[in-house]
Amino acid sequence: MNDRNLYLKPNVVIEPLVDNWYAWSQLIAPATAAMNIAWHHTIIKSYLAAPSVHAEAVKNPKMRGGPFMDFGGGRIKEVEALQKESLRKQDRMLQFAKAVKELDQMLSTEAVGFNIEKLYERVPELLKGYVELYYDRNNNPGFRFFEALLYNSEFYNKGSQSIALWITNSDARSFCLSTPRMADPNVIYLDLPLESPVIDELARMKRKPVSYEYARSLVSIRPEQEHLFRGLFTEEVPPPFQKYIGDKVRVRYFGHACILVETDEVSILIDPLISYYGYDSTVDHFSDADLPETIDCVLITHGHQDHILLETLLPLRHRIKNLLVPRNNNGRLEDPDLKLMFEHIGFKNVIALDEMQTYTFRDASITSLPFVGEHGDLNILAKSCHHVRIGEFTLLALADSRVVESRIYQHVHKQIGDADVMFLGMECDGAPLTHLYGPLLTKKLPRDMDGTRRLGGSNCDQGMALVDIFKPREAYVYAMGQEPWCEFISSIKYTPESNPIVQSDKLVKLCKERGLAAERLLGHKELLYEKQPELLKA
Ligand SMILES: [Fe+2]
Repeated sequence: MNDRNLYLKPNVVIEPLVDNWYAWSQLIAPATAAMNIAWHHTIIKSYLAAPSVHAEAVKNPKMRGGPFMDFGGGRIKEVEALQKESLRKQDRMLQFAKAVKELDQMLSTEAVGFNIEKLYERVPELLKGYVELYYDRNNNPGFRFFEALLYNSEFYNKGSQSIALWITNSDARSFCLSTPRMADPNVIYLDLPLESPVIDELARMKRKPVSYEYARSLVSIRPEQEHLFRGLFTEEVPPPFQKYIGDKVRVRYFGHACILVETDEVSILIDPLISYYGYDSTVDHFSDADLPETIDCVLITHGHQDHILLETLLPLRHRIKNLLVPRNNNGRLEDPDLKLMFEHIGFKNVIALDEMQTYTFRDASITSLPFVGEHGDLNILAKSCHHVRIGEFTLLALADSRVVESRIYQHVHKQIGDADVMFLGMECDGAPLTHLYGPLLTKKLPRDMDGTRRLGGSNCDQGMALVDIFKPREAYVYAMGQEPWCEFISSIKYTPESNPIVQSDKLVKLCKERGLAAERLLGHKELLYEKQPELLKA
């Protein structure tokens, strides 16, 4: 038993949690966490009042991703206990959320254009010292948080963070943002802050064998869970990793918005969302086993839960040399700072890029480009598309940018020129604003307005505008959230009649008619490019 011959199984999920809820960026950043915790209480209350309504809603495809608990109407006693425990434990966070609402209300009635200084004394006690008040140029009042100070206050409580370890044998999982995790005989819960090096050690064990004694020494578990912990390990040696040594640029699509761009010297991973292996999946895919030992750069396009998946990122943390995020740092509640968020959960070398700023290493450069819309018309800056250049080869990863005004990209084109390959997300319907930002609104948004304020990407015309501007030779539709291992986080399920499918089919057809290679990607794809494509053309 002391032999170093055990690996963590490839289908072990290291699931990050904040209290009993699936951890995502809004649950880490202190101010948005408070608002989300308050929102969780409204879901809990609503479930306890009408559990069968939730059970029905979860089954209804039209309500997918909505605020409904997936417990089939049961587990009432446990949900009641969760409510009681959370009201006690998160009392200060709930007070914080209440204070934000009071501050919004106070400013809307009292800040009418005169000097704002006298209103500092009217800021709720608990928020004093954490906010700056201001007017915009049209006399609308607002406030910004000093986020760095909040991370060092009682409102950033690492004690609420933990991980759940369990084995998955299927891609199918419930939508994870609306249903809390409850006691489960097949799940081990470890009270660890997300910055804990134990997470890195456990993740390493998927490739590096250890003794059981060593693995066991890292964690504190109850004796009755010993067999469960032992069951996470196997003597089966994982397939050996094949480092890419070719002379081309290799681009691999891992599903959703996740793309790995590699040469023999460079590796760049965009929006990591990696599926597991070790069980049958209905769609072929790459996995963790296909990622290099170290990744030079991980690029994040924006803060939506399907683009910052901590469940993938935390186990990869020890392999990431640099993490590039869009710069925001404006203190607005709806736009938490991504650099601060990642640094506080243990990521090193987090680099915040401004729009049109370029990060260069070896023969590669990454330029952060404007990302338009897709955030319900909120003024959110934490979003960027990427222009990746390796040698002379260029690739555009445009994520969910909604090209409402193509002239923005005409201006961009003046600086970066044509691109060889373009990847564009076309989930052009999108959920209503409140699906993701509802917890942050302190004034009810009328339903008819909400219906027009969507989190949708580009349609066919908008996508073709990009093709006209950047003149790629290949255009791929990605980030559609349709891989089976993405559904638990994207809550998307299309039919052939769904508008995003119709629009992307149309774009692919038009591109092909023009002689481009084009495809809507699903599952996996491997593409190879010359580093000097222009020379070849000549
Ligand atoms: Fe998005």
